[in-house]
Amino acid sequence: MSEKAAVGNEDLVEQPPAVGYSHRDRTALEFRGLTAGYNETMVIHDLEGKIAVGESLCVVGRNGVGKTTLVKTLFGTIQQQRGEIVADGKASASGGWSKPRPRRMSYCPQERPVFDGLTVHDNLTLMSGSRKLDVFEPFFAVFPILADRLRQQAGTLSGGEKKILAFTRTLSEGRPIVLLDEPSEGVQWENILKMAELINSWKQRGTAFVVVEQNLAFANLVADSYLVMDQGTVVLTGTRAQISRADIVEHLHI
Ligand SMILES: Nc1ncnc2c1ncn2[C@@H]1O[C@H](COP(=O)(O)OP(=O)(O)OP(=O)(O)O)[C@@H](O)[C@H]1O
Ligand SMILES: [Mg+2]
Repeated sequence: MSEKAAVGNEDLVEQPPAVGYSHRDRTALEFRGLTAGYNETMVIHDLEGKIAVGESLCVVGRNGVGKTTLVKTLFGTIQQQRGEIVADGKASASGGWSKPRPRRMSYCPQERPVFDGLTVHDNLTLMSGSRKLDVFEPFFAVFPILADRLRQQAGTLSGGEKKILAFTRTLSEGRPIVLLDEPSEGVQWENILKMAELINSWKQRGTAFVVVEQNLAFANLVADSYLVMDQGTVVLTGTRAQISRADIVEHLHI
């Protein structure tokens, strides 16, 4: 399927949640001088990036370069040692987020993205505060497998199905900033295209995304800009128009 065919289907989901932004030229998320790691070992160094409302930043890089560490730091799971994060108009200087964690950011982790011991239904509704499934109906139309497996333990889903479940749960929260760490890992291409369509549909309503992605074909469907990492630093960054796939591949050493 061509890129044009894969994106821009605004009818895919009838009613994406409103996210509270009206001006797409506003910055949704910005980070500067971001340095973070585990215990005494810093893994990411002096990272800088900016995502506008309704746009997405795709983070790419080889295994172990610090992509997940960046996303965890942005969400607040890891506290940065140095640097600043400005999300949703609120700044967080060195030392990480003040508690409680910001409520207007959703995060879909790379590892253990679902609660294995809970049903699909409970995974979807756990964070919503209500057990109602109405909000998920548009997602069920896109990913019927979720509706078919509502009573199934999430731990018995395939890796790709867990990713779809976690992706759906994350988008359904309707927050203005969404962090997705390798959402397409193990997912069939047909469903990867549907994920891309949903992300682009949400962007049109103002949601800003940080998407860590190894699949460059998928990244190319959703990226407004790229941040290419190596050994915890930014080695290449720019808009999709500025950066070619060949540029990215060269920096990935593949
Ligand atoms: N909890 C942890 N404690 C100590 N070191 C960690 C921890 N998590 C990750 N690291 C180290 O930090 C570095 C970066 O890991 P990270 O998971 O951020 O990379 P990544 O780019 O997301 O890799 P991948 O592509 O495999 O997902 C690695 O050297 C890793 O071993
Ligand atoms: Mg990772």
